Formats: sequence, C-alpha cells, structure tokens
Amino acid sequence: MKRKSIISGFSKLSREEKVAALTDSADKIKAKLDSFRLQNKEQQDLLDEISENTLSNFYLPFGVAPNFLINKSLYHIPMVIEESSVIAAASRSAKFWSNHGGFHARVISVVKSGQVHFLWKGEKVRLLDLLPELKYELYRTTKELTRNMRQRGGGIQNIRLVDLSHEMENYYQLHVDFDTVDSMGANFINSCLEQMAQTMKKFFKYYQGLKDIERECEIIMSILSNYTPDCLVESWVECDIEELDNIEPGMSGREFAEKFSKASKIAEVDVFRAATHNKGIFNGIDAVALATGNDFRAIEANGHVWAAKSGKYKSLTHASVSNNRFKYKLTIPLSLGTVGGLTSLHPLAKFGLELLGKPSAKELMMITATAGLANNFGALRSLVTTGIQYGHMKMHLSNLLNALKADYEEKRQALEYFAHKTVSYSEVESFIKSIRTKLR
Ligand code: MEV
Repeated sequence: MKRKSIISGFSKLSREEKVAALTDSADKIKAKLDSFRLQNKEQQDLLDEISENTLSNFYLPFGVAPNFLINKSLYHIPMVIEESSVIAAASRSAKFWSNHGGFHARVISVVKSGQVHFLWKGEKVRLLDLLPELKYELYRTTKELTRNMRQRGGGIQNIRLVDLSHEMENYYQLHVDFDTVDSMGANFINSCLEQMAQTMKKFFKYYQGLKDIERECEIIMSILSNYTPDCLVESWVECDIEELDNIEPGMSGREFAEKFSKASKIAEVDVFRAATHNKGIFNGIDAVALATGNDFRAIEANGHVWAAKSGKYKSLTHASVSNNRFKYKLTIPLSLGTVGGLTSLHPLAKFGLELLGKPSAKELMMITATAGLANNFGALRSLVTTGIQYGHMKMHLSNLLNALKADYEEKRQALEYFAHKTVSYSEVESFIKSIRTKLR
C-alpha cells in the first residue's frame, strides 16, 4: 500500500493521479474515497479548495446540545465531535442548570495582538527617541489596510515597543494590539504587521539615514500571537447548596458541593490532573469551534498558555462554596470569529452560526466558554459520583458494537443487557460471542 519513493510535483497531479501515486490498489481506494465525496459538485469543489491535495472528505458527527440558558437567553449549541459522550454530557449539564438559574457569562475584553520581532543593534535610547515618529508612520501606512475594520468599529488600538534584549541579544518587538470586531482577524492582523515591518525598514533607511539597515535593524518576522490574555471571557453557574440535594440519588447538596470543589482544587494543584481537567473543557470548546468554523488549534494554544500564566499549569476553572452558595467559574481567553474565513465558507459552519441566531463574536465567546464549562461540570459531576466509565462507556457502546460488526438484533440485545451494567470492551465482546454461539 505504502510507496517508499519521493513523489515529485504531487500537488500538480489530478486527484486520480494522486491516488495512483499513493497506492498500488488505486481503483479500490479511489472508489472508497469517492464514496465519501458529495454528490453536489459545487459544494464538493468548495471543500476541495479549502485545503491542498484534497482526496475526499473526512466526516465527523455534527450534533446539537440543546437547552442552554445563558444570561436568560436560550441556545441550542451545535457541536462537531467524535467522542461519543461529549454532547450527552453537555446536554445533561445544560438541562440541570436550566432549572437552577442557567449559565451566566460576560466578555471581559476583546484585544488581540501581534508582533514584529526585530534585532536593534544601535543604542536603545535612539530607538526610543525615534518611536513617536515611527508610530505615526506605522499608523499612516496601514490606513488603507485598516479602513474597513475601522468602519466596523475596530482597527489598531495600540503600538508599543518591548525590550527583550535581556532575554536575547538585541531583541526587541513592536507589540501591536487590535480590535478585529466580529472576525477572528488573523489575516487582517498579519497583513498589518507585514506592512509595519516594511514601514520600519523604510523609516530607518530613508528618513533616519541608517545606511546598513539590515545590519542595524534586522526584522526577523511579523506574526499575530495566538495568546490573547486580553480577549477574555468568563462563564459561571451558581446556586444555593440545597439546590444540589440529590443531584445523585442519596447525596446531599453540601456533600456534592464540597467533594466537587475538592476535585476542582486538585486540578489547581496537580499538573497531571490539570491537563485532563482542561481537556474536558476543550471537549466542549473545540466542538463548538469546529461547528462554527473557528480555529480550534489556535483556541487550544491560547487556553493552555493562559492556564500556565502563573508559571505552573493549572485548571481553567475555580469552584467555591461560601455563604451557602455553590459557584463554579471558567475564565478563558477565546479569540473567535463569526464573519470571514471558514465561518462564511463552510455550509455547515454557516448553519451552526444560524442555529445560534447569527451571534456576534462576543456572544459566541460566551456561548463557547459555556459549552466548555458545561462539559467540565458534567465530567466532574460523574467523577465525584458514579465514576466516568458508567456514562462514558454507555455512550461508547454503539461504537463497540459497530467495531464487533454486531447486526441489528445483536445490538438490540446488547443495549437491553447493558442498560444497567458497566460497559467494557471485553464484556461486550464476550456478550456478543455468547449470543453468536447460542445461535449456531
Ligand atoms: C474525557 O474526554 C474527558 C475527561 O477525562 C475530563 C475529566 O477527567 O475531567 C472525562
């Protein structure tokens, strides 16, 4: 199947030629790849052009976690995820909190940043002297690029010089803050930064007479930062302790709240637990990001740096029990868009946003953070009560049955048999084997 030699000019080959170059059984593989392509040529062409060297489509389930009450508004949240229990967990939390005051959320700030990284070999004081004039030029020469964004209420918010020469010889940055309104803004930010790098070079060369510009001011690179600590949102739930009575049969609200808080605290003090705890938050966040055409890698990178901002990687949530109130809060930087990029290109991302009532980026920040909190609350709720495998493996049962190629009747019997039992692969396998032997 796998050919070992280098394939040159791969991207220029037709789809058929690409498949032939990759495999000895091209006809069989191509038929399989074709079976996952869309009948609608226009939509397939669109998907093909989103990325490079596209052979087929890779499907993931597009689902909905309904009934999220957030700041008194009701949302049915679209989620794209392969893990079978995530939507179930989000929905269960949404249902629970809709009877206890709903979720509360607020956007704290919306600043995104980027940097021009450069080496300055001259005196620092000279750079500082030139800064006001340079800034003027930076704003002037990006005016065209920022015009639309300014019309929408955004644009460049601030430019500052950062001296990092104590970390790396001669290293400085122009650190630029942006408001990109409803777009994630990556292309806008990168275009502005690249223009700024050009402007800097020209400024020092022509206006300030630096002869050997490459030597005196070496621009290394210009790029947005995926860390946006000032594009911050929080989502929380709170209720009287008694409202948690019998959240699991026989458990008092206080018992639950205290055990839950301890579990949450463990993720603040232990890095191994923190990683898993935060992974559970991103189960929800990434699923909404995918369903709305947002960049989940950027979102994850952002959240993990924020989680480590104290120098130690910690949980993104915090629980408290005081004055008879239980409160559980997630605070996270989320750089999202609801216009531009994939949000308006991908037909299902468009639908995902429609389902949410075409939210602004700020509204989507609150919805997405809430989905993260809901998934995490659901995970902790299970962990401190029934254990995770009970619910998780129940949801996973159909995957196991499909892997064992169970037919309709075998599935029916298995669902009935495991309705009140803990599911494991070996248990399911022996159950299916046993009914198959009986039938023989
Ligand atoms: C599984 O995808 C996520 C959990 O492990 C999260 C957690 O442990 O908090 C259940």
